[in-house]
Amino acid sequence: MSAEIFIDKYVKQFKAMSPKYDVVYEVSKDEPIVFEDSSIVKLSFAAIADTHLPDRESAEKNLENTFFDIFNSKEKIDALLMAGDIADYGFNSEYNRFFGVFDKYRNKIKLLVTMGNHDARFFFNKNSKIVMKKVKEYLGLKTDTKTYYSCDINGYTFIVLSTEKRVLEKAHINPEQIAFLDSELKRGTKDGKPCFVMCHQPFAFTHGLPEVWKTGDMGEQNDEVRAVMEKYKNVFFINGHLHGGVCDKVEAVLNKENNVVSISIPGYRKENNFGITDAGVGYYCEVYSDKVIFKARNFLTGKNVTGEYTRFEYKLLP
Ligand SMILES: [Fe+2]
Repeated sequence: MSAEIFIDKYVKQFKAMSPKYDVVYEVSKDEPIVFEDSSIVKLSFAAIADTHLPDRESAEKNLENTFFDIFNSKEKIDALLMAGDIADYGFNSEYNRFFGVFDKYRNKIKLLVTMGNHDARFFFNKNSKIVMKKVKEYLGLKTDTKTYYSCDINGYTFIVLSTEKRVLEKAHINPEQIAFLDSELKRGTKDGKPCFVMCHQPFAFTHGLPEVWKTGDMGEQNDEVRAVMEKYKNVFFINGHLHGGVCDKVEAVLNKENNVVSISIPGYRKENNFGITDAGVGYYCEVYSDKVIFKARNFLTGKNVTGEYTRFEYKLLP
């Protein structure tokens, strides 16, 4: 049996078991995103993770709710980050649905995507081409054959990391990518501005690892990548992969002295494992000249998320 047939069979069995994932959610218009001080906000972005898009119309509709919610707000949200595991099994039909939605909004908002293990584990070569072609289209970048990139939005630098080979769960980050991270962080933080880094996989011993998932960390280059991030001030690392929910595991301070913080974004498509487990929850970030604020938001239903671990504020170091 070929790998594709085997996976197809597994997908069908899984679908049959999960009728609840056919629910299509309505976005509320009653509770739009409101910034704490719109008049002085310098940059804002929304971050979701683990859309795990299957080839289903319901999932495609639910994905588009994020855009309905973002554009229901009077606030200007500059970018949407999707922290990997775009597709569930890595089939073309899944990417067609995902990018069919994202394409509609490409001229209205900056779109930053990266591959997760679900994108890379079966069809790395095919899927990295699909994803990076969209990165080029959306951001006008020349990425050559690379799977990582950076871009500046409103004068702030975003660095997007990704595995460079087929993996089951972890990422494989080559020395060139680590050097790229280093030089881009140096450039992005030189005027005292915060920098934002995104990768699907979080660092080992953060966000409840390894207890929450024995093999859920970045992998072999974990320590090297982390050491580079910790060298610079005001670095915010956005990741997914863990499906942790809104709980005490969302925030991990990587280096207190340098204000280097990791935020684990809950999974979008399915219920999460801890705390507020709702699907559709991500965080949005308001960046001011002196501080950065992350707030939880249910982009699937268009509602704020309240309670513990739904708001994190970081004063920027000079
Ligand atoms: Fe993942």
